[in-house]
Amino acid sequence: MKIVFYSPGKKLQPWLDSLSANLPTADIWAWSPQCAVRQADYAIVWAPPAELFAQQQKLKAVFNIGAGADRVLRIANADALLGGVPVVRLNDAGMAVQMAEYVCHALFRHTREFAAYEAHLRGQHWKSLAALERANWPVGVMGLGAIGARVARAVAGFEYPVHGWSRTAKPMAGITTYAGPEQFDAFLAATRVLVCVLPLTPATEGILNADTFGKLKPNSYLINVARGEHLAEEDLLLALAAENLAGATLDVFRDEPLPAGHPFWEHPKITLTPHIAAITLVEESAAQIAQKIRAMETGRPIDGIVERNRGY
Ligand code: NAP
Ligand code: GLV
Repeated sequence: MKIVFYSPGKKLQPWLDSLSANLPTADIWAWSPQCAVRQADYAIVWAPPAELFAQQQKLKAVFNIGAGADRVLRIANADALLGGVPVVRLNDAGMAVQMAEYVCHALFRHTREFAAYEAHLRGQHWKSLAALERANWPVGVMGLGAIGARVARAVAGFEYPVHGWSRTAKPMAGITTYAGPEQFDAFLAATRVLVCVLPLTPATEGILNADTFGKLKPNSYLINVARGEHLAEEDLLLALAAENLAGATLDVFRDEPLPAGHPFWEHPKITLTPHIAAITLVEESAAQIAQKIRAMETGRPIDGIVERNRGY
């Protein structure tokens, strides 16, 4: 079995070692525009160039080393280049717990006013602020998939009221759930801290916009851990300036790395991190992909195949 690997910016050797350990008989190589053209059975990729797929004509599947497959689906001419080849995304693989941790941290930092305490203590002021009233901080989680559901459950575990929104109805114990565009406004009206864990699709691109912010409870807060393209950046800046939003924690951006001079860098109401909310774990991901390749090789079904018409 032949496997081509491509992932810019990620350390190559741990991936090649881990894939080889899981698939000892496979011939695995790293793709570069200069490497000799050899036809692979499987491609394992993050943010691949279209050229890779133009060269690879015999693929049985493309494994995306991330939960969101948008960086594969959005390559130029994707439909023609990928044809009917299944694109498979990571399913959790150790990311859901990281995301739950990240979102809880951002939530607590805001609701428990840790930034204010840090400022007080830097000035040597010993001062306590009012106790948190959880009922005043309903959290709304957009996307209740492998990662979003874990986030919603983690937040509910700290007794915040939690609302969740998905494309199709998804009842969850202890969480008020909403589905589809028709219930989106009711979800927003119930939400003060809005958490985006949606996949990037034509239906969700730009969904974090002025209209959405305007339907939230007053003095709301945004946490975006999904994709930069979900956010209308100018609308966020205007909502912060108008005090319709109290602040935002952002892990993802339209342009990554965030360009020098971007207004988000220095904004006092925005907390940034460099797309690290849930890091792809090499061992867990390689094991999951290898298990799926073994299943495919023996004709067994696998999960995580992206439905191309819905985009996730
Ligand atoms: P997933 O399992 O595919 O779940 C996606 C969820 O979004 C599902 O609940 C789905 O609804 C819902 N959804 C999709 N389109 C929708 C729409 N138009 N309206 C309402 N709900 C919609 O995905 P996941 O594994 O949880 O990952 C989610 C995303 O997190 C990824 O796509 C990626 O962008 C992001 N992510 C970011 C990081 C990071 O480090 N920042 C790391 C990992 C992932 P249904 O349940 O009805 O299908
Ligand atoms: C990371 O952003 C992922 O989609 O896994």
